[in-house]
Amino acid sequence: MRYGYFDDKNREYVIEQPDTPLPWINYLGSEEYFGLISNTAGGYSFYKDARLRRLTRYRYNNAPLDMGGRYIYLRDDSPHLIGPKFWSPSWQPTRVPLDEYECRHGMGYTIIRSKRNGIESSTRYFVPLGESLEIWELTLTNHRDETADLSVFSTVEFNLWDAMDDATNFQRNYSIGEVEVVNGGQVIYHKTEYRERRDHFAYFASSESLSGFDTQREAFLGLYRGWDLPAAVEAGLMSNSVAHGWQPIGAQQVKVQLKPGEQKKVIFILGYHENPKEEKFDPLNSQIINKRYVEPIITRYLDENEVEQVFQVLRKHWDELLNKFTVSTPDEHTNRMVNIWNAYQTMITFNMSRSASYFESGIGRGMGFRDSNQDLLGFVHFVPERARERILDLAATQLPNGGAYHQYQPLTKRGNNDVGSNFNDDPLWLVLAVVAYLKETGDWSILNEPVPYDNQADSEMPLLEHLQRSIQYTLDRLGPHGLPLIGRADWNDCLNLNAFSDSPGQSFQTTTNKEGKVAESVFIAGLFVLAAKEMAGLSKKLEEKGEKFKKNFSLLCSHFYQEKVAEMESVIWQHGWDGEWFRRAYDDFGHVLGSKENEEGSIFIEPQGMCIMAGLGLENDRAAIALDSVNEYLATPHGIVLQQPAFSKYYLHLGEISSYPPGYKENAGIFCHTNPWIMIAETMIGRGDKAYDYYLRINPSAREEISELHKCEPYVYAQMIAGKDAPTHGEAKNSWLTGTAAWNYVAITQWILGIRPTYNGLEVAPVIPSDWDDFEAARSYRGIRYEISVKRKGPGNAVQLEVDGNSIDGTVISLPDEGLEKVQVTVLLGQ
Ligand code: BGC
Ligand code: NOJ
Repeated sequence: MRYGYFDDKNREYVIEQPDTPLPWINYLGSEEYFGLISNTAGGYSFYKDARLRRLTRYRYNNAPLDMGGRYIYLRDDSPHLIGPKFWSPSWQPTRVPLDEYECRHGMGYTIIRSKRNGIESSTRYFVPLGESLEIWELTLTNHRDETADLSVFSTVEFNLWDAMDDATNFQRNYSIGEVEVVNGGQVIYHKTEYRERRDHFAYFASSESLSGFDTQREAFLGLYRGWDLPAAVEAGLMSNSVAHGWQPIGAQQVKVQLKPGEQKKVIFILGYHENPKEEKFDPLNSQIINKRYVEPIITRYLDENEVEQVFQVLRKHWDELLNKFTVSTPDEHTNRMVNIWNAYQTMITFNMSRSASYFESGIGRGMGFRDSNQDLLGFVHFVPERARERILDLAATQLPNGGAYHQYQPLTKRGNNDVGSNFNDDPLWLVLAVVAYLKETGDWSILNEPVPYDNQADSEMPLLEHLQRSIQYTLDRLGPHGLPLIGRADWNDCLNLNAFSDSPGQSFQTTTNKEGKVAESVFIAGLFVLAAKEMAGLSKKLEEKGEKFKKNFSLLCSHFYQEKVAEMESVIWQHGWDGEWFRRAYDDFGHVLGSKENEEGSIFIEPQGMCIMAGLGLENDRAAIALDSVNEYLATPHGIVLQQPAFSKYYLHLGEISSYPPGYKENAGIFCHTNPWIMIAETMIGRGDKAYDYYLRINPSAREEISELHKCEPYVYAQMIAGKDAPTHGEAKNSWLTGTAAWNYVAITQWILGIRPTYNGLEVAPVIPSDWDDFEAARSYRGIRYEISVKRKGPGNAVQLEVDGNSIDGTVISLPDEGLEKVQVTVLLGQ
């Protein structure tokens, strides 16, 4: 069953009924100001950091679902009315039935349109580029044949900035809330703690003059009432309350009279502003916010022509971004995911890491080191400058020993001490990210950028040195079999082989009861081979380039890395190969995991994907053998599960992985992030049909028809789909913020469609399904537009390239002479 449809032309998903199985959300903002918005206008906003600078409140885990948002109420003020006098044009929170309803989630905006009793309303929510504010542009139309007297109520509930503190520290917080009200409420300033150390405030403004306002929540809602039944809306009368402590809100009432057929726009803006420290107050020795800097911004965006113009700028911005890579294949699911939604999700995950979604509270996690490096793999070609900045931020949190903080806070860009370090895979992902950046941009200067360790002044070293230490970090931590020690965990955060946690509530990720000198990871070994091979390739390039980079770096020699690759490969074959697949790990007792010897957890997906992506088994038949095992033991119609057999009970020596009921999350769920590794591995052995088959199984658009089972949004990937051991097999959870986005984007664009950057030019080597006759693609790369036309000549993946009409050898198109802006590529595929 579907709850809407894709409008690909407008790059929108259109939801046709408000009570979707879960709230289906979108993101507003892509720079410093962000908002989450659901199909019923739920969600919240923040500046840079969802924990430390939360602007509005949201109630996670609420019943009913999805409470707290950008709520507008409409009230019919005519005295002789039958039926409910007021309703929510976004359905929530009143849930009064609507005659028509439609929510369009687009690229950086959401439009909720509805109609009730002849009154149509459409609200367009977006964040203009370059600004720290969001616009709610409401358009009202009277389709009745008589004049309508309406009241519009707009509401926000302010968060007292630190979302964690706001949700816990009531003894203080109920006394600190402060607002300033200007022009009869037309601008409401939220200034809690501005009197002391904060230089920032929020504001909520309306384009129209008001007939009333409220800033104290209970004055607006009435005692013991919720957002579904605000007393002020019911009565049509505000009390002009000024909040002193308790719960500051912004609520405004605008009276609108509409003749038959008449239309009117009302604009509301919610924004964030920082004042210079010395100019916080005006007059200087008062406690009144200095509004000189913010007022012009407010005035600008309360103008409807300006709003239309900046909206068009936003659309153009997204069009340009998404046009960097477009495809036209025989399959609509591939087309819309690559051209629109997968690309968009990849950019959102790049912005948010795993911090704020409807499954990530914005309080718990900052920017993940591993996560952000992987997100960058899919993002880098969209905005390379931002990828560069991110790489440098990440590297600056690296520790002098090459290790890394597992997370950092986006506001401070400092490593998070609560979670700390010792996830032994972390540093290696930095290598992959930097290499992806180099291949995309050719900007070798990044390697010379001075970057500190742990953000400590005077510890700066060139980025290249950071990469070397990443590799060295693994080499310094080898276990009894010569495999890398796992530390707190590797990519699988739940494989906690040193935790031995027996107390409820302990964090699996930070509790460590073992010294960590025994448990090893075959996955990290595979990742190491991949990263060290990349370092070998990089060093080779640098050697070609000459002295400039070579000088200070003792390790910088491609032979060194090649040697380490060879050593690790031989260890993997000796201790990491189980006969029909790659093993997963050795535990603290030195016992194998992910082997036929194990009754539960005898085969895992991660090492199959990672080792083959690193090239292991390509020269013999072992890659194919391992992938056949994946197909046999792990594949389901809903995707490939993480491991089998699922753990049926809690194992002290394995940690969180065995804490989940079978079929969920890391315990044999379909952990979608890992599926593209298998797709890539399948393309590496030339099996395009299999790769594509796996691609479609988890592709959200291809699952749209089973939305009642899938439950999450059909336009973005979810982190997990319940596995075959779960009673709810096929049900998705944790949509939006997942490495699944970037990895699927990489799998489909770079490996199945086969268009990937290299140091020397763009490579085109598709491994597509056998029944695809052709496809077209266009990709911007190093300032050149490549227009690629692939035609199948016969079975197989042999590639013959014609570049601007001339046949070339191999699959890499050398960079053309300077000045050339467009290159035409014809790919003849198959024998
Ligand atoms: C989840 C993992 C996640 C980790 C983050 C665990 O509870 O199962 O998927 O990576 O938390 O700390
Ligand atoms: C989600 C985390 O964000 C990611 O870092 C981790 O690799 C996976 N879970 C697997 O545990």
